[in-house]
Amino acid sequence: MEQDGSSQSHPPHVLVFPFPLQGHINSMIKLAELLAIAGFKLTFLNSHHNHERLVKFNNIAAHSERYPGFQFKTITDGLPLDHPRSGNWFLDTLEDTIELKMKESLREVLVNSSPPVDCIIGDGVLSFALDVAKELGIPIIIFHTNSPRSFWVSYSIPDIIQAGELPINGTEDMDRLITTVPGMETYLRCRDLPTFCRKLDIEDSFMKLVVKKTRKSLQADALILNTAEELDGPILSQIRTKCPRVYAVGPLHAQLNTRLNAKHGESYDHFSNTLWEVDKSCIFWLNKQPNRSVIYVSFGSITSTSREQLLELCYGLLNSKTNFLFIVRPNSVIGKDGEGEDVVMELMEKSKDRGYIVNWAPQEAVLNHPAIGGFFTHNGWNSTLESIVAGVPMICWPYFADQHVNSRVVSEVWKIGFDMKDVCDRKIVEKMVNDVMVDRKEEFAKSASGMAKVTNQSVNVGGSSYSNLDCLVEDIRIMSLKKLTK
Ligand code: UDX
Repeated sequence: MEQDGSSQSHPPHVLVFPFPLQGHINSMIKLAELLAIAGFKLTFLNSHHNHERLVKFNNIAAHSERYPGFQFKTITDGLPLDHPRSGNWFLDTLEDTIELKMKESLREVLVNSSPPVDCIIGDGVLSFALDVAKELGIPIIIFHTNSPRSFWVSYSIPDIIQAGELPINGTEDMDRLITTVPGMETYLRCRDLPTFCRKLDIEDSFMKLVVKKTRKSLQADALILNTAEELDGPILSQIRTKCPRVYAVGPLHAQLNTRLNAKHGESYDHFSNTLWEVDKSCIFWLNKQPNRSVIYVSFGSITSTSREQLLELCYGLLNSKTNFLFIVRPNSVIGKDGEGEDVVMELMEKSKDRGYIVNWAPQEAVLNHPAIGGFFTHNGWNSTLESIVAGVPMICWPYFADQHVNSRVVSEVWKIGFDMKDVCDRKIVEKMVNDVMVDRKEEFAKSASGMAKVTNQSVNVGGSSYSNLDCLVEDIRIMSLKKLTK
């Protein structure tokens, strides 16, 4: 991969287009930065709403200085700017509002772009970008920000239905194995399927939409997945039977760190792309805790909990033998605004020396802090990868979408944590926390650090993800040259 493209007179112009959510922006902006390091001209197409927040909570001027060929452009996400967009606001509005409005705006940006866009990297959720790209004759690569295994399960849903393994009939054993997802026959259970598969109706419109989008993405020139061959090799082989050009270039945050450190040195201050105000006080609190003594509890940017669930989690943590850093995002408790706050205040009172609570943390820094010994997570794909790279074992409490597949893989395939899926009981929380942090601490620390080692090797020079990114860069150059000569 060229580290500096200034010698090229016309670097390829790539437009990166994420779904307007924190988890999607995180990995797509990191990929965009990696392509900017390779000397490409980059346009990152954000929603107006998210861009406002990005500007508010991050140093965008420093970003522009660092990547002179990188520009942000913004379009509507279809909703008024003052819409709260909390929880999973996007589920009901995906097709008729978000897609409809975004498609038109994307087309406009592409038609008016100067220099013209040579290649689009579009989010798998926004599959309408394929139609726009085709209409305008622009090569397009689809990036699925979720895990490859969940991509593969979604792809296989028609086969699962065909084999009579779906729908779930409502009274059956959720632990029965699903045998029709190639490569996952030995560990994927009914309860590990994405949550939309729990509908009793196989004509469910959301399930159909996910299958349609997943299958449609194979019309792209190639796929990008945020994983390493070492993590997901067997499933990548399966996906390649349907789409031969799959670039496994992850974990992207680790790949970016490697390349930036090589270019600027270890102490380089990396750009944050947070959409919430980061409370760094938790790092000062962690500095005072013994090594591997704290469990980090965080459920990402979308998850909502009920007041009852939050109480079970709080008491499970309090009854355990472990100190904790708890992230409680504003408005993440189901009910009226702030209704869950009393639970948190009660917890604060009881846990003065045991716990620390903030609204939003610098998660990568937290996971790499020596005081952290475990991660109580919802298994969003970014969080899962960040935990693997930091060598931190997990307790998994998946909320929706790909997270149910991810938690199964963490516990059953990689064996670097427990899966607490479908349960939220203080006794189980206490037992799992004690097992990971105290009673079986060395066993989990060993498996997690082994996994971290192979994963980190993949993003170092000569590693699989490092080489795959070099191939991707080269292939985008070739694609843009071909487009020029058309
Ligand atoms: C969602 C899906 O869950 C995920 O599986 C999908 O692939 C992308 O979109 P989200 O639920 O927010 O994302 O989870 P996750 O993928 O883990 O992303 C959350 C991001 O927010 C992580 O990169 C994490 O580092 C960051 N974060 C979270 C913070 O920076 N601070 C916090 O306090 C909490």
